[in-house]
Amino acid sequence: MKRSVVAVGALLLGVGAVMAQHDLVKQDQDTMKANAKNLGGVMIAMVKGEKPYDQTAVNAALAQLDDTAKKLPTMFPDSLKSAKFEGDYGPSPKVWEDKAGFKAKIDSFAKIVADAKAKIKDLDSLKVVAPAIGKECGGCHETFRVKNS
Ligand code: HEC
Repeated sequence: MKRSVVAVGALLLGVGAVMAQHDLVKQDQDTMKANAKNLGGVMIAMVKGEKPYDQTAVNAALAQLDDTAKKLPTMFPDSLKSAKFEGDYGPSPKVWEDKAGFKAKIDSFAKIVADAKAKIKDLDSLKVVAPAIGKECGGCHETFRVKNS
């Protein structure tokens, strides 16, 4: 009797861990999708002339990217090493194998985003800074993101 209660408890804990893992994966993917929406759908769209320049929208996009920079250090805990990332992309094992390298990418992304707030004042400055932010996204993805086959 006692043993079966323990067994059920252990089982429930296991289910909880899988749920938490699933939620974390979803959060990570939602954050990345929001990055793409704010950089591509807002800032780069203005650079391309698809949307009119709008400082308020730029500031809101930068605030979300800044939030991402703050979240990144805890977005990929060891518990996600074996997690299944559904969709087109997942993290490379290098995220956990080369923690210092991953942190360096987070730091340079965080710095570019923090500096962007003071630098983007008009369309001309947006044209310089938005692609530079994009380069930081790509710089991390190149090493730390893999395409699911
Ligand atoms: C420090 C590393 C790092 C930075 C910086 C970074 N990403 Fe990512 N990104 C990842 C990793 C790792 C994944 C794969 C895991 C995932 O999808 O969450 C990913 C996945 C994505 C995905 C696919 C999401 C999905 O549905 O699976 C998109 C889109 C994306 N990133 C956009 C961006 C954009 C845009 C920026 C810059 C504004 C950015 N990322 C900055 C590491 C980074």
